[in-house]
Amino acid sequence: MTYPPQLDTSIALDAGDPAKLAAGTMLRENIVDAIGRTPLVRLVTSKAGAAVYGKLELLNPFGMKDRVAKRAIIEARRVGVLRPEDPIIESSSGTMALGVALVGTYLGHEVHIVTDPRIDALTKAKLAVLGCQLHIVDRMTSQGWQSARLERLAELLKQYPGAFWPRQYENPDNPLAYAELADELLADLGHVDVLVGSVGSGGSLCGTARALRRHLPNLRVIAVDAVGSMIFDQPDRPTRLQSGLGNSLMPPNVDPSVIDEVHWLNDEEAFAATWQLARDEKIFAGNSSGSTYAVARWVGRSLPASSTVVAILPDRGDRYSDTIYNPEYHKQKGIQALRLPDAPTETTYGTPVESWSYAALPHT
Ligand SMILES: Cc1ncc(COP(=O)(O)O)c(C=O)c1O
Repeated sequence: MTYPPQLDTSIALDAGDPAKLAAGTMLRENIVDAIGRTPLVRLVTSKAGAAVYGKLELLNPFGMKDRVAKRAIIEARRVGVLRPEDPIIESSSGTMALGVALVGTYLGHEVHIVTDPRIDALTKAKLAVLGCQLHIVDRMTSQGWQSARLERLAELLKQYPGAFWPRQYENPDNPLAYAELADELLADLGHVDVLVGSVGSGGSLCGTARALRRHLPNLRVIAVDAVGSMIFDQPDRPTRLQSGLGNSLMPPNVDPSVIDEVHWLNDEEAFAATWQLARDEKIFAGNSSGSTYAVARWVGRSLPASSTVVAILPDRGDRYSDTIYNPEYHKQKGIQALRLPDAPTETTYGTPVESWSYAALPHT
């Protein structure tokens, strides 16, 4: 790759072109209806070879999980497990909390979010102003913060009988919410050769992949995870700094049978990739987008120019201003420089990894 990448300077200021305006309206009935139909942009660093596109899920009203909250809450209302007067309770400190807050409070539900002291100030402010009740646990229990949060959630479910808990890790409406994302990709591109996405609950990658494969049976699906996450049979390291992707438990919504290959990046590499995404592509995002970008860019380099790669980019960078985007924080955490190798190391599935590596899944 030549550096700095060549930015496209031929952009025309034609947003007011009547033909373009007639082709698609931006009018939406309400903020919930503004979820989805996110922009898809060709990445500058792929101008020369295979086309690599970023699906800007970070341009949903709050982030990618707005889609999941919308689908899960509307389905629960439709089948009657959530009645109009019932509260909604969820445990999350990130994008899922914001999605549930947005859709739940918009539809008039009382929304309770259980979280822990690691929540960032921006997310906390957003949740509060939307009118959620925040329950911040103050100490870890047997399995750290996760068990402390689930114990508090169990108490709240007892206190509010009839409350709806969206359960993103196992609710089938989480992956199903991404059928629309797949339709958007098909409408925009017609064909996709490779789909690259991060994995936390598994909903976005597995849901999009399953829906796309109905039309594109040869789609190659690449998962992106963090070193120290146990989802793809690696030793769990709860001290990892990356958020969004990775997990210390195996979520039922991760379906390894739809995934061909997995990449793991360590914290330093993920932060470096996130900085590169902002610097080179002008996309200010979180670390799961950064890692996904690094993998998609690398995959694109090995493919013919006629190929199409799509990277799902889940959330914006603002809430990471004190962490990923703060050199003082890197020093505190022992990250001396932001190094990202040019290419990952190939390994066999099941071998513990320390830095950017990839492996084929055993079933492939
Ligand atoms: C910022 C961010 N990136 C990536 C993910 C992983 O997405 P999924 O849960 O669909 O696997 C999440 C999940 O919460 C997230 O919040």
